[in-house]
Amino acid sequence: MAIAKNPFYYGGVAEETYFCNRVNEIEVLKRDISNGLNILIYAPRRFGKTSLILKTLKELKNRYIFMDLMGITDEIEFINAYFNAISTSLETTTEKTVRYFKKVLKIKPNINVAFDMDGSPSYSLSFTRSEKENVLEEIMDIPFKHAEYSKEIPIVVLDEFQEISKLNLEEKLRSKIQLHGNKISYIFLGSKKSIIKKLFFNKNSAFYKSVKHLPIVEIPFSEWSSFIKKGFNNNGRKIDDEFIKRTLKISKGFPYYTQQIAYELFNSCDFTSGVNDLLMKRTLQSILDREEDLFLQEWENLSLNQRKALKLIIVAKGDNLYEGKVMDQFNLNNSSLKKAVEGLVNKDVIDKSGKWYYLQDPMLEYYIKERLI
Ligand SMILES: Nc1ncnc2c1ncn2[C@@H]1O[C@H](COP(=O)(O)OP(=O)(O)OP(=O)(O)O)[C@@H](O)[C@H]1O
Ligand SMILES: [Mg+2]
Repeated sequence: MAIAKNPFYYGGVAEETYFCNRVNEIEVLKRDISNGLNILIYAPRRFGKTSLILKTLKELKNRYIFMDLMGITDEIEFINAYFNAISTSLETTTEKTVRYFKKVLKIKPNINVAFDMDGSPSYSLSFTRSEKENVLEEIMDIPFKHAEYSKEIPIVVLDEFQEISKLNLEEKLRSKIQLHGNKISYIFLGSKKSIIKKLFFNKNSAFYKSVKHLPIVEIPFSEWSSFIKKGFNNNGRKIDDEFIKRTLKISKGFPYYTQQIAYELFNSCDFTSGVNDLLMKRTLQSILDREEDLFLQEWENLSLNQRKALKLIIVAKGDNLYEGKVMDQFNLNNSSLKKAVEGLVNKDVIDKSGKWYYLQDPMLEYYIKERLI
């Protein structure tokens, strides 16, 4: 028997039928990008930032330069990765690309082209140390020059932008980006709120007040419900509302986990019976088993008081943390709890919404509830 195709997906970029909703965010993004605004999107890991931006860019049909900063370890690597991102976005032959750069670059670095297994080129530059500053400036100006003569607004996406602070490049980038005004739309994506805040919201920081901040939140339950229902029904499986509700109660609409639970439920249920109680329990347990190493690693990175505070936040449902009785239960006092909470915020484990504290990762919360409390 042929294996049924799973309508859910988790891990990489969500596209096509795997992409759910975010209609308003896409509309806002399209308008802002078309006006040359610089935009900041930050959200926890696996929240759907990259998927959202790639979907928007696909709909816009503009040319764009996409660079992921994760894994870049110094300025020279940054220059080469940026140069490669620009070159590959040109979508023309390698000969034309090389000729083009030889013409537009004032300094004359060697342009190297390598081909991977499927024949796609990757570009890099050779230059001397003393040329480094100028090369960076020139590379950053290429999209700007392109904008001047093509009259279109180039879009530059810098994914995992928090990494820039490790490279000490924020000042240099900021001074260039500022000069590019609304001729280029820069989109900064970031997943470490603590660092992103320092880069963009601190008065003395390089990018202070330089972007429009687009907050993205969890995908609403109603959207997920019909997405999950359709996924099952259109592919010959059954799921009752009760199990969708249970899925969303755990995932809280967090995209990665919603897809993960739906995917695994779909995989393990059969044509006739659909999802049932036992299957739901087993599926959740097996997800926890698989994520356990990762969660324990996070847990071990916390001090004992931070672990206590995390349990306290879960038990108190994020509210009234400093109430005597709950603090006693976890053997914490005002000052030790305050310090632990601050530490957890700085480590991007928890965040605050209004007066409520919550864990950024809903599956970690579920894990702690199930196995550590
Ligand atoms: N709009 C969406 N509809 C459905 N699923 C989504 C959507 N956005 C994200 N997902 C789910 O979340 C997963 C992670 O998405 P994505 O890689 O875009 O997130 P990210 O925030 O860029 O993550 P990272 O911080 O790891 O770079 C996807 O594999 C998919 O399962
Ligand atoms: Mg991403």
